Amino acid sequence: MKYLGLHDIRTEFLNFFESKNHLILPSFSLIPKNDKSLLLIGAGMAPMKKFFTGEEIPPAKRVTTCQKCIRTGDIDNVGLTDRHATFFEMLGNFSFGDYFKHEVIPWAWEFLTVNLEIPKEDLWVTVYKDDDEAYNIWRDVIGIPEEKITRLGKDDNFWELEVGPSGPCSEIYVDRGLEYGSEDERPGGEGDRFIEVWNLVFTQFDKDENGNYNPLSHPNIDTGMGLERIATVLQKTDNIFEIDAIKDIIEEIAKVSGKKYGEDKKADISFRVITDHIRAMTFMISDTIVPSNEGRGYVLRRLIRRAARHGRKLGIKRAFLFEIADMVIDSWGDQYKELKENRESIKEIIRREEEKFLETIDDGLVRLNAHIKEMKTNNERLLEGKKAFKLYDTYGFPIDLTEEILKEEDLDVDMTGFEEEMELQRKRARDARDDKNIGWANQDNKHLFEGISNEFLGYEKNECKGHIIRIIYDDEIVDCIDKGKRGIVILDKTTFYGESGGQVGDTGEIISDKFRLRVTDTKKTKDGLHLHFVEVEEGKLEKAPVKAIIDVVRRNNIRRNHSVTHLLHRALKDVLGNHVNQAGSLVMPDRMRFDFSHFEAMSKEEIDKVEKIVNEKIFEALPVETKITNLDEAKKMGAIGLFEDKYHEEVRVLSMGDYSRELCGGTHVSNTSEISMFKILSESGISNGIRRIESITGPAVLKYLNELKEEQEEIARELKSNKDEILQKIKLNNKNLKEANKEIERLEHDMAKDQISGLIDLVKVKNGINYVIKKFDGVDVNTLRDLADEVRNKVGSVVVLFATINDGKLNFVCAVSKDLVEKKIAAGKIIKEIAKVADGGGGGRPDMATAGAKNLNKVDEALNKLRELL
Ligand code: ALA
Repeated sequence: MKYLGLHDIRTEFLNFFESKNHLILPSFSLIPKNDKSLLLIGAGMAPMKKFFTGEEIPPAKRVTTCQKCIRTGDIDNVGLTDRHATFFEMLGNFSFGDYFKHEVIPWAWEFLTVNLEIPKEDLWVTVYKDDDEAYNIWRDVIGIPEEKITRLGKDDNFWELEVGPSGPCSEIYVDRGLEYGSEDERPGGEGDRFIEVWNLVFTQFDKDENGNYNPLSHPNIDTGMGLERIATVLQKTDNIFEIDAIKDIIEEIAKVSGKKYGEDKKADISFRVITDHIRAMTFMISDTIVPSNEGRGYVLRRLIRRAARHGRKLGIKRAFLFEIADMVIDSWGDQYKELKENRESIKEIIRREEEKFLETIDDGLVRLNAHIKEMKTNNERLLEGKKAFKLYDTYGFPIDLTEEILKEEDLDVDMTGFEEEMELQRKRARDARDDKNIGWANQDNKHLFEGISNEFLGYEKNECKGHIIRIIYDDEIVDCIDKGKRGIVILDKTTFYGESGGQVGDTGEIISDKFRLRVTDTKKTKDGLHLHFVEVEEGKLEKAPVKAIIDVVRRNNIRRNHSVTHLLHRALKDVLGNHVNQAGSLVMPDRMRFDFSHFEAMSKEEIDKVEKIVNEKIFEALPVETKITNLDEAKKMGAIGLFEDKYHEEVRVLSMGDYSRELCGGTHVSNTSEISMFKILSESGISNGIRRIESITGPAVLKYLNELKEEQEEIARELKSNKDEILQKIKLNNKNLKEANKEIERLEHDMAKDQISGLIDLVKVKNGINYVIKKFDGVDVNTLRDLADEVRNKVGSVVVLFATINDGKLNFVCAVSKDLVEKKIAAGKIIKEIAKVADGGGGGRPDMATAGAKNLNKVDEALNKLRELL
């Protein structure tokens, strides 16, 4: 057997299949494109489903890849065993209607036995129970003895995802020898003796949502070999954590933690969790995923937090994962360029998420431990869903972490209750979102659009001649529509842009000598038909030659706002980092908004800088050019945008000088100077890790400036100043106001003091105790306290009780002299009783206390209560 390092095996594999006329494609992103059935890519074939079904044409009929994969189904077991992982690389070779079993089986055999030099006698195989063809090839062409070929049922030898291409398969196993198991063990069983290394799938079906297996028009090949798995065989290690490259990560963790792998079972779990998760998180972020509370972002958040917690378990007190990420980037970065390109943002995102988590984890742990204690005292096994949710929501504890910690104590979570809380929160979030899906509701009414197509001329022209080729009224195809009614028309040629790519549809007019239509909106079907939503303003609408004229002023504003999204996208990347990616946009005539991935609010400086750069690019008057080209060319040109789903399509690359290059189908200015000016109105967060910028251009900026100016003039008028002196005037006013307030305070104080002498005359005696009662109007509590204090000082031995009604609020103040306090007369107690009479409450020290009350009508009654108390 040949010893090969992890990275060398990958190269060996890809080169082998290149020599068999396969096209080597780089790994696809972990984010599935146009595939709602998957959260993350978990198999080599997953990003290529459409090539198997024929929906899209592959770049070659034979393709080979090493695909980064994430499977989270077993995440709880990662670490606990040395067999599980979330991240792995899958080597694969694929045939889209080209070769089949007779080629793929001998090639697999050749690669394993010749290139990797695995002894033939160590290889065993399984085939689908009815697949005689595969069985015979293994036995007769390859020459494997019958006892080493096992037929298995659908559970073992049929490969499928939830939906999509699937088929019977044949698996290849390596026999690791009797030290790993018994004589009678067979592939496909539980034991450790046979390790499955390669799965050859004979993809013949397309499974739909209802579970039907629809035969594909041509048979395909999909194979998958776990790179780490085959490395364990070649490197003769027991598990993936001992192979090269991965072992390096373990050693790095050992360095940081000062612990050693393999010495303590519990610590080993943590080593493995971190080692696996660090690869997963680094790769995910390099594919632009950021931590969030849903979907992929949530998977990432779980992974980072779980790894962080295990770092703590190893005694690492600080954020450290971002340092280990370097190791992954260095080791895998040659094969996966996106790792190196995004090194800084990958580390930054990991560091922030870990730090944020560490801040809350301690508080959360205290809380969870309290719950655990309580549960044990009450003999309960399940933590209430509400409590688990609170830990999740407030302390950032992923639910699996709560579960994991509870499990260590032999306890569990009420998941149903937790899910209910989660659903409630989702509903709140849904209700809070103002965005509505503005796609046209009746897209599925396919028959309305059958048999026609149209040409879009609106990139170059604002108006054109065309024919109405279809009229739709109330979801039916009709011949005419009367004046005053609304419907949809489709032209063979149009200049109206149909809403797509975030750009709103055009409005305008469609006219003929017999009728005039007002176009209120234009949408585009999935197949590219432009639907004009019209109102018949004059005449009777029927199929006829027409002129289509868009509202040019409106469209020009849309052009400005669309073009500026490209400059903004580029500038955001320049200022914040390459991790910034467009997450959505809405381009309208009066403004635009741009959503993008970034982990924190932008600072004022960053916003200013971005705005400045965009304006500079406008002032530089860069020419805007479009080029229709193919994907490779576009990539070579350095264009940004969504590439993955665009193989074989023509792509439209939009360049603005040398500054911005982006794939785009929208309508644009022909020179950036037409945008005139760009102003950011706001920057805010719309969900975790996604920010939104709202901005305006051109005439809207002018309007905005005029409004500011008018507002400024109005302020100046109010201030009786001119507009150049507003600020000075305000500062002066503030200063005067402050002084005036001080003066008022001083006067109030003096006035109150003057009252003191009068107050002393009010002293009465009950049971040998001096007391003063007095009601005030409009005096604040602090002044009253001072006053009570003064009276107390002057009289010597006394109970003072004041009430004041100030701003509609009733307050009491009570002061008791020291000698009386010693006799157990406490102001705090008195005030409580007094306030109670007027529906209030309060308290304080024995010598001074205050209270508030609600019932203003009971002031006198309350004050008089003092006599009773004394
Ligand atoms: N698609 C097959 C697998 O993932 C090769 O095992």
